[in-house]
Amino acid sequence: MKVIAFLNNKGGVGKTTCSRLMAEYLSKVKRIPTLGIDFDPQCNFSHQYLSMEIDPAAPEGLMPPLHPDYNPHDPDDADWDGRSSIAEIFYGQGVIPYPTYVENLDFAPGHAERLLAAEAVRKSEVVDKVHRQLTGFLSSPDVCEAYQAVVIDTAPSKGPLTVSVMKAATHIVIPSVMEEQPVQGIYGMLQLWMQESLTREKSNPLTLIGILPNMFKQTRLHKDILKSLQDNAAIGKYILPIKLCQRIVFAEIDAEEATPRSIFDFPDHHVARCEALEVCEHLAERILNHG
Ligand SMILES: Nc1ncnc2c1ncn2[C@@H]1O[C@H](COP(=O)(O)OP(=O)(O)O)[C@@H](O)[C@H]1O
Ligand SMILES: [Mg+2]
Repeated sequence: MKVIAFLNNKGGVGKTTCSRLMAEYLSKVKRIPTLGIDFDPQCNFSHQYLSMEIDPAAPEGLMPPLHPDYNPHDPDDADWDGRSSIAEIFYGQGVIPYPTYVENLDFAPGHAERLLAAEAVRKSEVVDKVHRQLTGFLSSPDVCEAYQAVVIDTAPSKGPLTVSVMKAATHIVIPSVMEEQPVQGIYGMLQLWMQESLTREKSNPLTLIGILPNMFKQTRLHKDILKSLQDNAAIGKYILPIKLCQRIVFAEIDAEEATPRSIFDFPDHHVARCEALEVCEHLAERILNHG
């Protein structure tokens, strides 16, 4: 099973957008049974596929809706509140992914309060209580049998949630806008990747596919920063030869009422669809064929 994660400890760089493109490309275009996971307490990725609800216990946060398999009259469901988020892994409970409107795509949504609680676990307990849990969940027989690919969206942090994603992933991509602040985020992620790589067995590497320029504009600023990264002896080799430009439709399809909802349902010649396809094909080629 391939586990691909999009990481950058800066927000607003395209982690959620790229997670969405990749999840829909693998499931809808490549017809690979795929599980999307939202590891960000903000739950933006979840909101794309499920009608997330305001959590009465923490009104500033979201929680998953009732699961379609939940039956309050069924005695088997008596001990279940009917909701299932990826944060159940931190409470020793099973995760029941939700079906989505996208063919071959199931989803394990976030739960703001519970993910934040995991992020706040004390240092002395973090390895057992947080770091190991996602790897354990993804290696369970149920998950391995049901899915061939997993796409994980992450929080803009370098904390315990991000570390557990690094530990569970087989492949990572660092999206970044070509501006000063987001580029700083690249260094933070490269550092975490190198730390994690040192602990990996040779047979189970964590492959950095690369740094993906996003929201690219043909301005002097973006071109200069991209060029300086490409010329940088330490980083240049990780800059991907593809990019996503600043295109309003990538933002517009976030809206619930958008039609079509998937970029891959746009007309074949649509410029944003072609660009998304090129990026996803490049990433998938690396993930599926070349380890
Ligand atoms: N290539 C792009 N062109 C235009 N808007 C984009 C693009 N990529 C992302 N966006 C928009 O920018 C905002 C931040 O992107 P998002 O994917 O949510 O970043 P992150 O998950 O890293 O915080 C969102 O509103 C998203 O729709
Ligand atoms: Mg996000």
